[in-house]
Amino acid sequence: MLKRLEALKTKALAELEGIQDEEELKTWKVMYLGRSTELGEIMTEMRSLSSEERPQVGRRANEVKQAMQAAFEERRAEIHERALTRSLQEKRIDVTLPGRAVPAGRLHPITRTMREIYRVFGEMGFQVYRSRDVELDEINFQALNIPPHHPARDMQDTFYIDDGRGLESDAVLLRTHTSPGQIRAMREITTAYPDDPPAVRIILPGMCYRYEQISARSEIQFTQVEGLAVGKNIRFSDLKGTLNDFARRMFGQQVRTRFRADHFPFTEPSAEMDVECFLCGGEGCNVCKRTGWLEILGCGMVHPVVLRNGGYDPEIYSGFAFGMGPERIAMMRHRIDDIRNFWANDMRFLEQF
Ligand code: DAH
Repeated sequence: MLKRLEALKTKALAELEGIQDEEELKTWKVMYLGRSTELGEIMTEMRSLSSEERPQVGRRANEVKQAMQAAFEERRAEIHERALTRSLQEKRIDVTLPGRAVPAGRLHPITRTMREIYRVFGEMGFQVYRSRDVELDEINFQALNIPPHHPARDMQDTFYIDDGRGLESDAVLLRTHTSPGQIRAMREITTAYPDDPPAVRIILPGMCYRYEQISARSEIQFTQVEGLAVGKNIRFSDLKGTLNDFARRMFGQQVRTRFRADHFPFTEPSAEMDVECFLCGGEGCNVCKRTGWLEILGCGMVHPVVLRNGGYDPEIYSGFAFGMGPERIAMMRHRIDDIRNFWANDMRFLEQF
């Protein structure tokens, strides 16, 4: 019986040695350490042994069982370890591979242009004043010295929301420019400080709307940035100095500017400012239409009627104003030839910025 135990142990351990995976390991365990095994058989047969032999064989049988159990645990740990190593090797990370790009959101080209304009005027002491998109006819036109017969008031050019039921000044519309914000801002200040209203230095950005045939050159919605400075002793030279400084901060220290006489109902005198074409440096290209100059904004000294409509006495106060189109600036800068790109929400266009 002792010999049988010895043979059993040798056979079991030898088999265990050859086992390679968890499946075989399970089979081995059932065979040697399970319910009905050779060892179990020997234990049963032991009962027929003499009382001298029985303890000796019993002790040996237990030792064999423990040895097999210990060997089993050891083998199981080895196989487990090996499987783990293999899976780590298979899933190994190649740190030399280029990373996957994380898609990052970005700002709309007009938002970026607007923020640049805010930064430049902010450095020069201008605050941002926000006015409404939905305006009264009275503020959008009349208070700005645009008379009732002015072509800008034509139904062809303005989105009317309410016709005012016979009273034209009560008509409600989508602002056609940011200039009505000048009236709102001046009235707010002169109402708050009626005796001696403080000076104003603001820019008024926002969306404007025109009832127009959409084309590569005109859209029914576009942004504008208006500027307004009102105070005592403000002169045309202040307007020129401020706008020249703006042009240099926005387009580069070397850029040259020129002012051309123009007409706007709300300014007198009025002008347009051109900057030297920043694409060809004044040589002449197709963006500046070979002139070397780019028209950048309209401006002028605030008309006395407009000052009065804002609550300022034109005998004491004066001011200048200007208005520019960020789409135009962005189009010239990036050589974009179709204004419809800006509000069409085509990702192929927007992703380029
Ligand atoms: N409101 C004008 C427009 O929409 C732009 C403009 C011109 C604004 C001259 C001004 C200005 O403040 O002084 O075309």
